[in-house]
Amino acid sequence: MLPKEPGEKEVQELCAGHPQHPGELLALLLEIQEIYHYLPPTAMKEVARYLAVPESQVYAVATFYKALTLKPQGKKIIRICQGTACHLRGSSEVLETIKEVLGIAPGETTTDGCFTLETVNCLGACALAPVVMIGDETHGQMTPERIRKLLQEVST
Ligand code: FES
Repeated sequence: MLPKEPGEKEVQELCAGHPQHPGELLALLLEIQEIYHYLPPTAMKEVARYLAVPESQVYAVATFYKALTLKPQGKKIIRICQGTACHLRGSSEVLETIKEVLGIAPGETTTDGCFTLETVNCLGACALAPVVMIGDETHGQMTPERIRKLLQEVST
C-alpha cells in the first residue's frame, strides 16, 4: 500500500522539533522525506505555516534537491544503470525483466508500495556492469535470470 499522508498534528509535532526559523526549511523537508519517503502536500503546507515562509518557497526547495520528491516512493528504490558500460553489457534486458516482474515502468511505484523503479546514468561501479541497486545494496553482473531471482528474494 502506498504511504498515507500524515495528519496535520503529526507534522506539527515534527515541526516543533525544529527552531521556528526559515533557515530550518531544508532540514525539516529532509526529515519529512526520510519518514514518509516523499513530501506529502499537507506536510509542505504545514511547514510553510510553521516557518512563516510562502508555500512557493517550500515548493521551490522541494523541487530543487534530488534527495526530495513530491511523488510517493516505494519502501525500496530499485535503480538500474543505463550508462554506456551497463548498456553494452545488457542492462536493457535486465530493465525489461524488472518491468515485466514488477509491472511498472521507470518513475513508477508498485501498487503495494514496495518498490519504485528508477533508471540512472552511472552508479560508479562500471567494472561490475550491468549494475542494479536495490535500496543501499549494489548488485553487479546482473542478468535477466539473476534479477528475477533477486526480486523474488527481496519481495519475501
Ligand atoms: S555505466 Fe553503469 S555503473 Fe557506470
